[in-house]
Amino acid sequence: MPRYPKLSITASRQLLRRITGREQVLLTGRGAAGIYAALVARQMQGKIVLLPANTCYIVLWAVLRAGAIPHLVDVDLHTGNLSLDRLESCLVDKPSAVIPCHMYGLPAPMNEIMEWAREHQLFVIEDAALALGAMVDGKPAGAWGDAAIFSFGLGKIADNELGGAFLTDNATLAADVERVLTTVPLWDDDLLKLTEEWHDAYWDLHQDEPASASQYREYFERCGALTFYRLPVDYWRDVPELLVNLPENLAHRTRLAALYDELLSGFSRSKREGAIWRYPLYVPSARRNLLLQHLWNNEVNATRWYPSLRPMLNALAPQLSIPPTPHADALADSIINLPLDASVDEAEVRRTANLILSTEA
Ligand SMILES: Cc1ncc(COP(=O)(O)O)c(C=O)c1O
Repeated sequence: MPRYPKLSITASRQLLRRITGREQVLLTGRGAAGIYAALVARQMQGKIVLLPANTCYIVLWAVLRAGAIPHLVDVDLHTGNLSLDRLESCLVDKPSAVIPCHMYGLPAPMNEIMEWAREHQLFVIEDAALALGAMVDGKPAGAWGDAAIFSFGLGKIADNELGGAFLTDNATLAADVERVLTTVPLWDDDLLKLTEEWHDAYWDLHQDEPASASQYREYFERCGALTFYRLPVDYWRDVPELLVNLPENLAHRTRLAALYDELLSGFSRSKREGAIWRYPLYVPSARRNLLLQHLWNNEVNATRWYPSLRPMLNALAPQLSIPPTPHADALADSIINLPLDASVDEAEVRRTANLILSTEA
């Protein structure tokens, strides 16, 4: 791997071009910075942007920080992703952009979404933060939207703790986004401290008690600055290696996910090809938190990502009326994500499956 940090940047961009076939690749401080910069570059201030109701809060923050109006869209109950019938119902609100996400690394129907967006002249930002290396309708994830983003943040498929990428085939858009990105702050110790504070708060806010509106508002004010930053060159040192090792990384995830499919065949999971970030397991919502606690007590690093964005958006933009999102709400209340990263092996998958089966039997 390159010994000099600047060469790591060139190598990372080249590898991402090769993985996706994209012409333009920019490295960003985080995935959300790319979403923010694309919305600003396309002058989405005051315009309606559609996003899944059960995606990561940082996507919502990026939309708000760009001055756009977020509109939560319900998802398909079986896939957890946006679908055409849900999107169709949003047309009355005259949206200008849509941010489809490949939830858990499982493909959103991009072929249909792109066709629909072209017909209605919406700008598409494909959120491939969780789907690096996945194939989507015969093309790589990240190769679909007018713009796309990846994340190399903590816990992502290629985990560099920090970093992201913005991709497009449109050279003018890339130049505009690059210009916006020069205006965001450089990562430093203050941002690191704020990140740690926010991670602790995020954990607390989503424990058993729902967060209050004032807590959401207070944290957005204090930590909203985390939505975008640039990284010093040194932070790209390990990314080329992560990208070179991607096929092996994905094969490991696919193998472990197949084992979970076999061991937990009584639980529903949408079994589609993808680049599986974490194994999505759905359990009845009344028992979800008990099971999660049991897994934590037994040192399984399980999570419940992502909670519905409805309470957060209600708090941050109370003037907006949020349409009902029953599928996203139901999925958010019943999801458990099981880790599939390199620290997990087949024995750990069997142990975790046994913990689940003995509790749920
Ligand atoms: C679905 C989804 N979209 C976008 C992002 C943004 O990535 P980043 O954390 O690098 O800004 C994340 C990250 O947590 C995510 O989970």
